[in-house]
Amino acid sequence: MTHKVGYLIGSLSKDSINRVLSQCLIAVAPDDLEFTEIPIGDLPLYNRDLDDAYPAEATALKDAIAASDALLFITPEYNRSIPGALKNAIDWASRPWGQNSFDHVPAGVIGASVGAIGTALGQQSLRGCLSFCNARQMTAPEAYIQFDPEVYLASGEVTDADSKAFLTAYMAEFRDHVERVLTVLPRG
Ligand code: FNR
Repeated sequence: MTHKVGYLIGSLSKDSINRVLSQCLIAVAPDDLEFTEIPIGDLPLYNRDLDDAYPAEATALKDAIAASDALLFITPEYNRSIPGALKNAIDWASRPWGQNSFDHVPAGVIGASVGAIGTALGQQSLRGCLSFCNARQMTAPEAYIQFDPEVYLASGEVTDADSKAFLTAYMAEFRDHVERVLTVLPRG
């Protein structure tokens, strides 16, 4: 059975290395996963005063999550934490109170950085938010990617065999995780 995966990129940069990583992940993913980006760049800053009148961009975000069987977060680390744009998107999707879009949704977390710890602390911050939002995260394998532009190409090609095998295994495990969660907690 095909599963729809909505993916969120934590960077708004047009040159984002995490966007490149997203293409590499999609290229090696099992055929029964279908990917759609869930954009976060046009969201206004979250304000609870708007909980009774969600802006169109925030409603579109919640609709896109509702239409997804699973979510994949591909994010940089900013100042050892979550990029503000991604946190803002999570805040919108988690509200209004009682309408948390992440409840029981299978989710994966991965990220690329130029630094040696490969977004480990940013991912830890993100995992804390997703735990509170009751998303069903894949906790292993973890994936902390130190980005090398000669290995990870915008075309989705991964030129290093070990790196490609690692991403392939990560996506196979993600598919299995999604299957397991959806068996117990079907969407829709
Ligand atoms: C960074 N960068 C960074 N890298 C890291 O490993 N740990 C960090 O805490 C930070 N902090 C940080 C803050 C801010 C505001 C910026 C702009 C950058 C560097 C970061 O890894 C690099 O810019 C990546 O290219 C960001 O990913 P995208 O935007 O290319 O996907």
